[in-house]
Amino acid sequence: MKGIVFREFIDMVESTFGDEMIDTILSSCDLESGGAYSAVGTYDHTELVQMVVALSGQTGIEVPALVEAFGTYLFGRFLELFPVFFEHETSFEFLNSIHDVVHVEVLKLYPDAGLPSFESQISEDKRTLHFEYHSSRHFADLAVGLMKGAFAHWGEDVHIDIEDRTTGEKQVVMFTCTRND
Ligand code: HEM
Repeated sequence: MKGIVFREFIDMVESTFGDEMIDTILSSCDLESGGAYSAVGTYDHTELVQMVVALSGQTGIEVPALVEAFGTYLFGRFLELFPVFFEHETSFEFLNSIHDVVHVEVLKLYPDAGLPSFESQISEDKRTLHFEYHSSRHFADLAVGLMKGAFAHWGEDVHIDIEDRTTGEKQVVMFTCTRND
């Protein structure tokens, strides 16, 4: 996983829980990188999992809730860093562009990025988005947080129905997103 993601996680922990918390977490984890991440470097994604588990131990907040909250934080950061990808009328159109446009551009910038794949389809009446996540890194909760960030950004009221379809090593999750507004 690219260093940019680790740096954003550390920034979120610092701004939410304070500098001491990040020191506590880094000293309790046995990280190959030692906790020093360059934005363009590539690191084992399990280092992020270790840090989240340590943060969960310190705060009592469940791991999935922390990963989701990080996803929503990351949405805000991606919006600031790469505004060009967000020029869409609705969140569904934006999410529909992740696999074929956004993550394709990410791969051009960072050829060794480990990205999930998505199969997505907007219904004819545009009220439902089927968005299926596939990844060996098992970060579907991160996707949920990113999606919630998108719904909030476009000011939409969207219900996400989550169905785990994992059968093999890759995590497969179907998100059925329905507009309530
Ligand atoms: C809001 C919609 C988005 C969703 C649902 C999404 C989903 C994800 C997920 C779940 C991951 C973690 C890796 C994995 O699960 O295999 C990921 C990685 C990543 N995404 Fe996205 N993403 C979104 C938008 C974006 C945007 C707008 C950008 C920036 C232009 C971006 C850039 C990246 C980068 C840099 C990584 C890390 C790749 C790596 O560490 O090797 N994503 N994305």
